[in-house]
Amino acid sequence: MTITVFGLGFVGLTTSLGFAEYGHNVYGVEINSERLATIKGGQLPFLEPGLDEALTRHLGNHFHPIGIDKLDEAVKHSDCVYYCVGTPYGLDGQADLTYLFSALDQTLSVRPTDKYQVLVVKSTIPPSTTSQKIIPYLEEKGINVGKALGVANNPEFLREGHCWDDFIKADRIVLGVSDERSAEMLRNVYSTVNEPIHCVSLNTGEFIKYLSNTLLATLISYSNEMSLVADTIGGIDVATAFRILHEDKRWGGATMASYVYPGCGYGGYCLPKDTNALYAVANTAGFDAQILKNVISTNDQMPTQIAKKIAHVVGTNKQRIIGILGLSFKPGSDDVRDTPSAKIINQLRLLGYTNIVGYDPVANDEFEQYYANLAICYENDYEKLIDRADVLVITTAWPEFSNIRQLTEKPIVDCRYML
Ligand SMILES: NC(=O)c1ccc[n+]([C@@H]2O[C@H](COP(=O)([O-])OP(=O)(O)OC[C@H]3O[C@@H](n4cnc5c(N)ncnc54)[C@H](O)[C@@H]3O)[C@@H](O)[C@H]2O)c1
Repeated sequence: MTITVFGLGFVGLTTSLGFAEYGHNVYGVEINSERLATIKGGQLPFLEPGLDEALTRHLGNHFHPIGIDKLDEAVKHSDCVYYCVGTPYGLDGQADLTYLFSALDQTLSVRPTDKYQVLVVKSTIPPSTTSQKIIPYLEEKGINVGKALGVANNPEFLREGHCWDDFIKADRIVLGVSDERSAEMLRNVYSTVNEPIHCVSLNTGEFIKYLSNTLLATLISYSNEMSLVADTIGGIDVATAFRILHEDKRWGGATMASYVYPGCGYGGYCLPKDTNALYAVANTAGFDAQILKNVISTNDQMPTQIAKKIAHVVGTNKQRIIGILGLSFKPGSDDVRDTPSAKIINQLRLLGYTNIVGYDPVANDEFEQYYANLAICYENDYEKLIDRADVLVITTAWPEFSNIRQLTEKPIVDCRYML
């Protein structure tokens, strides 16, 4: 099959290369010219193990990265058009669908009208978006959805840092569809895949993704709230308590247990915006979801709580140097979007601590670009940071920090309970 994929970010580049690996011919469209040039040059625009090798294998063979200027050619030949563009925070926590609708418009401007194609949203979109926004939008333009073209969703469950493995060894494929012809074409996209393929309604397909992300967010907020309860009562070894909790055989040794562990609050691109978006869409539909509301509010208060804890260790001398260990939102990734480290640093600055030095094994440059307003200093060497700081704060659980007690006797605030 021939497939056009809009957006070559974490999801779009992985999807494009994954489909190329399945043997499809893939055009990957990217509007960011710098990102496009990097990919065309055979480099990844972000850190993602395994994806680099897939890019080397498929670039110029089954995978063709292109700009919007070549869209016409790509869409003309495609059986399916996939949308993997961002759906960031919008007004009042709603998902911002601007990128998605602009990619849809770009598709419609070059779409061949004599060919049945399926437009498939892989971006995370709140339940009812396809049925209440996308289909009416296409119908207003005189398109007979289901007859002239199909519309579907195919949510993605990959984790950053494991994008390639999660895509290639997906545990399930979810297809939100409303007509049999689209379902058949999408089953063909995944015809070489052995995992279960579930064809469900459009709203169900969208909902499953939020069910997954909001459960993870809930587990994290639950764990963080429990750590605050424990700190308030006192005399409780929080890390030990959680590790013993994980020994319960009902967890089955699952990696899910890693979400039932306190830290700095959930961050990254997906959990914060998706939890807010599901709360907002349910609220608009007339239901005030109390668990989601409290999950969000617990997460929102974590940077303040952690900054207070750090301030307690640093003391009243605001000139002491605070070394922040870890700037990406999780180990194994250089993604700094919505990273808790930035929020904690911001809170420390509000408390008057301005002597802050950051270190991350891979994300120093990304962080500096993204959060230029925080105006902190950076250190490119782990041991130099330890030498330079008066107090050390672990904000991302990079494995290399686990030896820190052997390297220094300086005070350490282990916000990830990893030591
Ligand atoms: N990052 C994750 O771990 C993850 C996991 C599952 C689902 N998702 C969802 O997938 C979607 C994409 O996430 P991401 O992390 O890959 O985002 P991203 O920001 O890394 O990538 C989006 C890309 O789309 C490009 N783009 C925007 N409009 C375009 C257009 N009209 N034409 C061509 N390119 C365009 C942007 O330049 C950018 O490179 C989001 O809805 C997200 O919630 C993300």
